Amino acid sequence: MRKKIVAGNWKMNKDCDEALLLFKEINSLLQNTTAKQVEVIVLPSFIFIRDFVSLSFKIAVGAQNCSTEDAGAYTGEVSAAMIRSAGASYVIVGHSERRSYFSETNSMLSKKINAALKNNLIPIYCVGETLNQRNSGNHFKIIEQQITEGLFHLNNEQFKKTVIAYEPVWAIGTGNTATTSQAQEMHAFIRKVVAQKYGNDMANSCSVLYGGSCNAQNAKELFACPDIDGGLIGGASLKAKDFVQIVQSF
Ligand code: PGA
Repeated sequence: MRKKIVAGNWKMNKDCDEALLLFKEINSLLQNTTAKQVEVIVLPSFIFIRDFVSLSFKIAVGAQNCSTEDAGAYTGEVSAAMIRSAGASYVIVGHSERRSYFSETNSMLSKKINAALKNNLIPIYCVGETLNQRNSGNHFKIIEQQITEGLFHLNNEQFKKTVIAYEPVWAIGTGNTATTSQAQEMHAFIRKVVAQKYGNDMANSCSVLYGGSCNAQNAKELFACPDIDGGLIGGASLKAKDFVQIVQSF
């Protein structure tokens, strides 16, 4: 059985008081629900990780990025070891905003994946095509390349710990969710690419999340697709009720 996951990517939102309030709200709403076996993850700014870990009942906490480097003179960077020491258990690697605004390449991201795994963080590796790439028919090629160059240096033991998130860039923050057939088609393709390298068992046990305007209204339909194992949620994760409703959408 694959792990079902709903992860809230808060991006660069919420100040200290607002973040604490939202986390507590999600925490208490989740306590009163009988959600099926779902791993719920909140990924706030680095500065909130430690507080959230100490407050959490059953929410796992993660970071949105980590450095390629272990330690040293890298002003402004945050290492995977630091994130782990704050109590986090996940880290997003290769979100499309990092790829486009901060010029993160597949080869750089493969180093971040190594840094995460070395420090016992589970990487959530994001892949996704732009609208131009989809319109020109290159979307499968792009996704395959992102997966191959970012992850395929891993051995079986390492790959087993990795989560993949398919987030079409044109769907992120735009309200244009991929249709269930577009999403399912790409998720099945991702699983096929993984199977070619690591075999069917590995492909069938790898959680592949969908992200891009996933919300309380469309989550049920998306999560019902056979190859979609949950969601990486941006905007809708900033509203406690919506986020918890998404958690209950399996
Ligand atoms: P969105 O963002 O849900 O606001 O589209 C998803 C993401 O960027 O992870």
